[in-house]
Amino acid sequence: MPTSLHSPLDMHLHLRDGDMLKRVAPLSAHSFSGALIMPNLVPPIETKEDVQNYKNQILEAIGDEDFIPYMTLFFKPTYSREFLESVRDEITAIKLYPAGITTNSEGGLSGFDVEELRTTLEAMSDLDIPLCIHGETGGFVMDREAEFVPIYEKLATHFPRLKIIMEHITTKESVAALDRFDNLYATITLHHLLITLDDVAGGMLQPHLFCKPIAKRPEDREALLKVALEAHPKVMFGSDSAPHPKEAKECPGCAAGVFTAPIALQTLTELFEKNATPLKNLQKFISENAQDIYRLKPLQKEVILTKEPFVVPDNYEGVVPFSSGTALAYNIHTII
Ligand code: DOR
Ligand code: ZN
Repeated sequence: MPTSLHSPLDMHLHLRDGDMLKRVAPLSAHSFSGALIMPNLVPPIETKEDVQNYKNQILEAIGDEDFIPYMTLFFKPTYSREFLESVRDEITAIKLYPAGITTNSEGGLSGFDVEELRTTLEAMSDLDIPLCIHGETGGFVMDREAEFVPIYEKLATHFPRLKIIMEHITTKESVAALDRFDNLYATITLHHLLITLDDVAGGMLQPHLFCKPIAKRPEDREALLKVALEAHPKVMFGSDSAPHPKEAKECPGCAAGVFTAPIALQTLTELFEKNATPLKNLQKFISENAQDIYRLKPLQKEVILTKEPFVVPDNYEGVVPFSSGTALAYNIHTII
């Protein structure tokens, strides 16, 4: 039986700019109906003009594919209500990075003092602009996300009308926080549903599995898998597909990021099937939950997958994908 997915959405995607954008954007635009585009370029996306220019570059790179790039701004505590009102129609969310926590986040936030953030976060609440957060502290790498949970809780308590999306969650602590606050939501990547730290560094070091946040323990992966498979209404798929050139991964000082965009739908289909999960749950995880949380009306796209092996290419124009060289159980057959 072929599997049909409707209007898949990737609610956390890195497309980069320049030559890399041209290489990777068509891959997502082909099989997804839309994606939330991360703003961590050099320099970051911080003005209305930046958003418009970047959106135009993306649209140019994807040619005639039907795909909506849902744009984001790089969070600054200096954004005024007037500025946010002026940019409201151009963006879907604002992404907050703690300073220096990951790729191109040097201009991020260095403290979470509620009063310093109040003007911007109250304006975002009033304008219904969701705040997406890379939730890691500067602590020990395995504890960074769990240590950030109290910051999520503080923000969720002080700004109860603000939708806060915990991006790419990797721990059971983040999963537990979801149900404690009405206004906390989360994205989950494909790779964090599949791997633990053992896969990254338990044997020979696997640079293509190195990312931020780092993959955690088996019990964390189990907690993520549970809410993804049951299509918990507050979780959505966000690949965090983060392309880096092969040379920037296979070297000392390996860049953080796993490139999953071209294999995400095939692998998710296989994962849900393996766990005997109804297809309707995958449909919610891959699109409907995001539509409800973000109030999106995506472009109609039907992706039909058949159970035929798909051997993942070694690289896509010099970018090595997750599962490169292995055979996946599902292949994309038709896209309508
Ligand atoms: O592994 C990651 N790569 N995590 C991030 O948060 C950013 C991303 C990137 O931009 O390469
Ligand atoms: Zn990311």
